[in-house]
Amino acid sequence: MSSLARSGLRSAARSATHLRVPARTLTVLASRAARVAPVPARSVPAAVRGMKTLDFAGTPEKVYEREDWPLEKLHDYFKNETFALLGYGSQGHGQGLNLRDNGMNVIVGVRKDGESWRQAIEDGWVPGKNLFSIEEAATKGTILMNLLSDAAQTSTWSHLQQFVTKGKTLYFSHGFSIVYKDQTKVVPPADVDVILCAPKGSGRTVRTLFKEGRGINSSVAVFQDVSGHALEKAVAIGMAVGSGYIYETTFEKEVYSDLYGERGCLMGGIQGMFKAQYDVLRANGHSPSEAFNETCEEALESLYPLIAQNGMDYMYKACSTTARRGALDWAPEFEAACKPVFERLYESVKTGAETRRALEFGSRKTYREDYDKETDAIADQEMWRVGHVVRGLRPNRK
Ligand SMILES: NC(=O)c1ccc[n+]([C@@H]2O[C@H](COP(=O)([O-])OP(=O)(O)OC[C@H]3O[C@@H](n4cnc5c(N)ncnc54)[C@H](OP(=O)(O)O)[C@@H]3O)[C@@H](O)[C@H]2O)c1
Repeated sequence: MSSLARSGLRSAARSATHLRVPARTLTVLASRAARVAPVPARSVPAAVRGMKTLDFAGTPEKVYEREDWPLEKLHDYFKNETFALLGYGSQGHGQGLNLRDNGMNVIVGVRKDGESWRQAIEDGWVPGKNLFSIEEAATKGTILMNLLSDAAQTSTWSHLQQFVTKGKTLYFSHGFSIVYKDQTKVVPPADVDVILCAPKGSGRTVRTLFKEGRGINSSVAVFQDVSGHALEKAVAIGMAVGSGYIYETTFEKEVYSDLYGERGCLMGGIQGMFKAQYDVLRANGHSPSEAFNETCEEALESLYPLIAQNGMDYMYKACSTTARRGALDWAPEFEAACKPVFERLYESVKTGAETRRALEFGSRKTYREDYDKETDAIADQEMWRVGHVVRGLRPNRK
């Protein structure tokens, strides 16, 4: 998933990571009453170590921060565990390498001689030492991290479930398989903890932020708590895979918001909006260069980073009064036009229609090629062909 414009659902999350934002946007809550009297963030830690309750614009939420889980504590916590990553796609790569760099006992399980097997070897995993078939890794692991594609989680479950034995932990990075069990048939045995940690970004970003000493924001949830420590374990794993801060959710809320967000502002919505704006400029005689700069390049290179840094108002204030006047007037028009689409989208997620489509598509033998065909078609749109040229003109690309 692109890191582009993760302002919508994630603006609160970003605010929390950059706690130097004005205290009015994010304040620590000692109690509900404190909501009316903002105090600087972090000044009032909650009683439970490793967890704080923060005021997210009037709603108190618990958050967990990396500083509460130093490496020594993580090493001690997981000293008897073997993390078995089943699947080595984008998340397997990011979470696996971060776990390994954090000194955890971690092995990878993928189809022998598939694309992931090749990629894992390239990343330094060694066949027979810490790289195995899915079955071998699932047998050896105590924390089974199901990071197969969502479609593969469905198609492999009838075979894989035999390895999910009493006392093990079943981990996901998405609520998909569990929540839509009517379609996926993924029903874990009753004697294992079932948890999730869902990084709010691509596995590639999970890795790059970790290497930069930063961290991805993640959510955690518990579906089944047999050990009595499932939530704490989910938080600890979240930290071990490289999260910066973690918030709590449920499997259902995670999957609804995730499917909705990526179809909306994060990916689908942004492509649709860029394309509509670009096409109208072109239809009115603007050059490709002008249409692209006024639609995408300025957004991505100049304005969205300002939103990411300090919020929408900050970006507005950084622009001319002329720009501000027009944006203030037109924003409600766009909101009104988009809202019915978002409502229809949320409904489509909730009814399982989006899941059905993803499962149908993802379980085709030709899924990689079929997806590539459609994304190649985007790359072939005039707007993105122009983008290729414009990006090449950025001085730092030369
Ligand atoms: N990517 C993201 O941005 C993101 C963010 C948060 C959470 N998540 C969640 O994290 C999980 C993993 O997602 P991902 O994007 O990392 O992975 P992905 O690209 O969707 O899946 C890749 C893995 O699934 C394996 N696979 C596919 N079909 C298989 C089959 N029939 N049998 C065995 N293995 C099969 C692939 O192995 P081969 O190479 O052998 O085909 C590969 O190792 C999902 O639940 C996803 O929703 C993803």
